[in-house]
Amino acid sequence: MKPIIKYPRQEYLARFSGETIDIGEVINSKIPVKASIQVDTLTHHTLVVGSTGSGKTHTVSIIVNELVRKTSKYKVLIIDWHGEYMKLINRAEYLEPRRMPLNIIEHNNIYEFIELLQDSLGLTPPQVYILEKIFENKKYMINNIYDLRNVLENIEDQGSWFRESRLSLLRKISPLTRDGLREVFDAYKDKIIDYINICENPIIIDASRIQDPYIRRIYVSILLKKIFKEAVKRKVWSRNKLLVVLEEAHNVLGRNNYIGIVARMLSEIRKFGVGLVIVSQSPSQLVDEAMLNTNTKIIHSIKSLNDLEVISKSLYLPLNIEKIIPYLDVGEAVLYTRGLKKPVIIKVKEI
Ligand SMILES: Nc1ncnc2c1ncn2[C@@H]1O[C@H](COP(=O)(O)OP(=O)(O)OP(=O)(O)O)[C@@H](O)[C@H]1O
Ligand SMILES: [Mg+2]
Repeated sequence: MKPIIKYPRQEYLARFSGETIDIGEVINSKIPVKASIQVDTLTHHTLVVGSTGSGKTHTVSIIVNELVRKTSKYKVLIIDWHGEYMKLINRAEYLEPRRMPLNIIEHNNIYEFIELLQDSLGLTPPQVYILEKIFENKKYMINNIYDLRNVLENIEDQGSWFRESRLSLLRKISPLTRDGLREVFDAYKDKIIDYINICENPIIIDASRIQDPYIRRIYVSILLKKIFKEAVKRKVWSRNKLLVVLEEAHNVLGRNNYIGIVARMLSEIRKFGVGLVIVSQSPSQLVDEAMLNTNTKIIHSIKSLNDLEVISKSLYLPLNIEKIIPYLDVGEAVLYTRGLKKPVIIKVKEI
């Protein structure tokens, strides 16, 4: 049973600059006030955490809907891990991964591709070595993952260590060549960046349509890498900002299994106008960068002691707020954002 919790009488000391979006109300405030986030702060990344069912997806949907209603400054891309957003986002464009296939082998970025496979497939140093040798050898024409599989199947072994590593590499790569995935990983040219730029409405990519979470993780990592590269290289979003929602972020930003390029994104990409919204049930499972590099934090109810400890270690929260976190109701959260003098407990509005 929920103990009787006394919410503190809240003072709302805020000084915002520029446009803001309202996501709800401050609970038990001395005078009724809206809970706001500065629009510009979104490129400094947002972290939304809370136990399952605490209201994370709902809160992110409010942020996106309010942002789109308020300003046309931002493009929005939601990477929907569980396929939950379609009914929550106003005027969204819904895409399945096979309608937005990715060209995963880019010859001018081959070492990055190998690094990404290394992180996402857990490749060993000998396996990385084999991949490097294959791509450096001009004899092989590798344009897609099927070509790579063929080369790996037929390449001559240079000793027993090579054979062992090659076969195990083949086992790791083979799932990407399963039936039904050809459309997902075999694009001649990526369309996603152009699509983001022409699309006026928020885009939802329903990653849940890739059933195997192992492959879904690779798809999401490659998609994020494409966005990162584009942002840095062409600075396309320096003016027209881009907000990217990453649900179940521990899959690519997990403390013990993060994808290097995605973790680097957190510290580097804000300069290029891309803001990430990182959503996860468990802050303790995330890389430290997720706490360090997010300017706005929305903390829904958290029950696990490990997760509570991470929050209390990395944020300065007044004790009377911190001790309420496990007992927050669905849709209630602690908001911590630029412009607020003190974190406040809020009730996120209904959709
Ligand atoms: N602010 C709110 N006002 C009213 N209802 C809400 C609010 N936030 C969440 N809910 C409702 O609570 C339920 C759970 O919310 P939601 O799916 O957002 O949780 P979640 O934290 O994303 O859960 P999960 O970790 O399982 O994905 C939903 O039915 C949602 O409509
Ligand atoms: Mg959710």
